[in-house]
Amino acid sequence: MTNKVVILGSTNVDQFLTVERYAKPGETLHVEKGQKSYGGGKGANQAIATARMGAETTFISKVGKDGLADFMFDDFKEAGMNIDYILESETEDTGQAFITVDAEGSNTIYVYGGANMAITPEDVDKAASKIKEADYIAAQLEVPVPAIIQAFKIAREAGVTTVLNPAPAEKLPEELLSLIDVIVPNEFEAEILSGIPVTDEKSMAQNADYFLDLGIKVVVITLGEQGTYYAVEGDSGLVKAYTVQTVDTTAAGDTFIGAFVSGFGVSKMNLVEAIDYANKAASLTVQKPGAQASIPLASEVDNI
Ligand code: RIB
Repeated sequence: MTNKVVILGSTNVDQFLTVERYAKPGETLHVEKGQKSYGGGKGANQAIATARMGAETTFISKVGKDGLADFMFDDFKEAGMNIDYILESETEDTGQAFITVDAEGSNTIYVYGGANMAITPEDVDKAASKIKEADYIAAQLEVPVPAIIQAFKIAREAGVTTVLNPAPAEKLPEELLSLIDVIVPNEFEAEILSGIPVTDEKSMAQNADYFLDLGIKVVVITLGEQGTYYAVEGDSGLVKAYTVQTVDTTAAGDTFIGAFVSGFGVSKMNLVEAIDYANKAASLTVQKPGAQASIPLASEVDNI
């Protein structure tokens, strides 16, 4: 058995620079390695992760007619995902992200949305039949909120579980909040939405309560090396992370989401088991550079 998953989200070309440390404003630094381009975008990364974990995956996205994203399509096809709903914008360029990774493996990212920000509710309607037959639809915030609302409305009417990864974080309209079944922020995104800093387990629970009180059924807060906090009505807890040598954290959160939605509910995989599976997958991603290039296959995750 496999889950059927629709991912609505961004496709970016990631321009990577590896640095010893980040430059301060006004400072110029030498770098040892030249810039490299990788396939990226939170949506595309999550779709690749979902497909590599074996779920039946449909990806809704938009790119420019500039050919910039063409090199990703081989990977999309190799991962086995449905790319019929990756549309082309007549007017906007393919999205790009400008990423620096420092010696500790942490990153800074500047995103130029381009064609991603031209995705409309009407574009989403084209994939309505795929959304209606899915187990999960997942979206992030690198595409316009009206498109996400439309996708989640279609899903809600059809009884499909909606998953929002509120990244990059921004305050959300009530209409969207009312359509979310599962929310998966990291600790910083949770704080931006709830106003409650995540400092300890008590504040994790306060954050979770904030989301549960909005009517969201499942709250999953990713905490990097500290693991993952989850909460549903009447149950909550912390699932440990896997300690590994970090090279680059880019796409770790995306891998988590992809593995989570591909696993949750399959072969009776419960919430904690799905989070553990997703933590394992993300621990493999951080050991390699790049976004899509670092996302593992299900067989690699099963070997941990
Ligand atoms: O989550 C990682 C992604 O964020 C990168 O691939 C980059 O494209 C940005 O969207």
